[in-house]
Amino acid sequence: MTLHAPAPASTAPLPGPDAGTAVHEAPEWWRDAVVYQVYPRSFADSDGDGMGDLPGITSRLPHLRDLGVDAIWLSPFYTSPQKDGGYDVADYTDVDPRFGSLADADALIARAHELGLRVIVDIVPNHSSDQHELFRRAIEGGPGAPERDLYVFRDGRGEHGELPPNNWTSIFHGPAWTRITEADGTPGPWYLHIFDTSQPDWNWEHPAVHELFQDVLRFWLDRGADGFRVDVAHGMVKPEGLPDATVNAEGLIDIPEGEVPVYFDNDGVLDIYREWRPILDSYEGERMMVLEAWIPEHRLPLYIGPAEAHQSFNFGFLQARWGVETMRTAIEEPLALADAVGAPTTWVLSNHDVIRHASRYGFPPDHAFGEGLARDEVPDAELGLLRARAATLLMLSLPGSAYLYQGEELGLPEVADIPDHLREDPSHLRAGVPGRDGCRVPLPWSGDAPAFGFSSTGSSWLPQPAVFGELAVDRQIGVEGSTLEMYRRALHLRRELRLGRPEAPVAFLEDLPEGLLGLTRGDVVVLVNTSEQEIPLAEDLAGAELLLASAPSAPAAPGTIPADAALWLRRA
Ligand code: NOJ
Ligand code: MG
Repeated sequence: MTLHAPAPASTAPLPGPDAGTAVHEAPEWWRDAVVYQVYPRSFADSDGDGMGDLPGITSRLPHLRDLGVDAIWLSPFYTSPQKDGGYDVADYTDVDPRFGSLADADALIARAHELGLRVIVDIVPNHSSDQHELFRRAIEGGPGAPERDLYVFRDGRGEHGELPPNNWTSIFHGPAWTRITEADGTPGPWYLHIFDTSQPDWNWEHPAVHELFQDVLRFWLDRGADGFRVDVAHGMVKPEGLPDATVNAEGLIDIPEGEVPVYFDNDGVLDIYREWRPILDSYEGERMMVLEAWIPEHRLPLYIGPAEAHQSFNFGFLQARWGVETMRTAIEEPLALADAVGAPTTWVLSNHDVIRHASRYGFPPDHAFGEGLARDEVPDAELGLLRARAATLLMLSLPGSAYLYQGEELGLPEVADIPDHLREDPSHLRAGVPGRDGCRVPLPWSGDAPAFGFSSTGSSWLPQPAVFGELAVDRQIGVEGSTLEMYRRALHLRRELRLGRPEAPVAFLEDLPEGLLGLTRGDVVVLVNTSEQEIPLAEDLAGAELLLASAPSAPAAPGTIPADAALWLRRA
């Protein structure tokens, strides 16, 4: 058989979306979009304070256009004390001064649209910051303050109210309730916070909370946002009467396999999407919402549909271990579900909450991860990157939309050796787990510059390891076989071959050699060798054209699939 070498990488930008014509006009663009997640603190810093900001993002948008993504999703950049990286919002309709101003947000959206990129903003409706004006008024206004009804305040149990109202625990460890002290020094009621104490949950039983968020949606839609990523999208409505959760022998909330804690996935949440959808639909330009909903699969059809949300993250693929059966199941199940709901599935391998996939795959498939990467957990970096690249090619060959996390296009690893005193993740501060800072380290743009080009001063809110220099954008651009060039090529081909569209169904190849995963999309064949040995290519693929290979160098022998690698072929 002949394997034609893939087109050599070049420094010339591959054609992105139709630049100049604003965003591409495919109907329901979100169905097959590649969305790039920007974590504003860590993308690019324009003013040298070591904290990424909106003008920094705007200045680097051409990188994303050249990469070939369709949209960006911005993690929160709103006014916030930054107790949870901005997911603690003090003002939903203003920009945190660390990140810039509203004018900077307008400029970012305008520039993105000019470059043909859509913009999705994050909305955080489950909780606010304790510095939100309404929460401050709830505290400062004393026992009768009407703002207390906007949050979940309850009297404590026990003789003097000294025990929390129920036994719920926080996702960030510890109790989900904090007792306040009134102005006169007497202990007051407790407020609910499913996350950090600085993140009080809104009371969605109150109409004013509904109105507040409708206004927030309109505010960003009016400014040109193309959609929303909804944070904790399964969390806002709590079960009637706030009943205790069942606990196991260790006193921890018992969450049977495939289920969620009692405070998540309550039916009332669905009404919120039915309320929001007409607002989005009333705007021109196919505004969308994607839910961050960790819910049992069979519940998904309730959240997605023409009257509810457009799509939801599918985290099963991200959680699947390296291997034929695990990855195949993680593809088949969501595809079947997507068919059932008439909405495309989504794919994601990394985000700001999980260990970067270049490191995850560097461990044996049965490795049990804690929360974040501990210092003594040392992944095989080379193997991790090889497999990460292969998994990425697998993901990008699938129909539906794909969400990329900043830095994965560079093959960045999770950073394990951040000094504890610099870690900011609330779960680290509350429970001492390593936490999520390791995937949030600022991006390297140029290998030789201070802070690898993240900021002009060399300042960076988290230290970057030396290896970031080797992986910097300028070290990879135009370099054949680099991870960045693989992503650019894959995104270009995905668009050209319409792999994101559903027309050519995913058909798995059966009876393949052990360790080989194979599927076709029309005449495109995708093969992933999950084994540690090269596998010879089947004879019927003789003459197939090699479109793209995940391995940085060409296959060692023609006609084989290297270990831990993926190929995209086109049948002759
Ligand atoms: C999910 C976000 O992705 C995460 O970063 C945040 O800590 C929690 N929601 C709470 O807002
Ligand atoms: Mg800055």
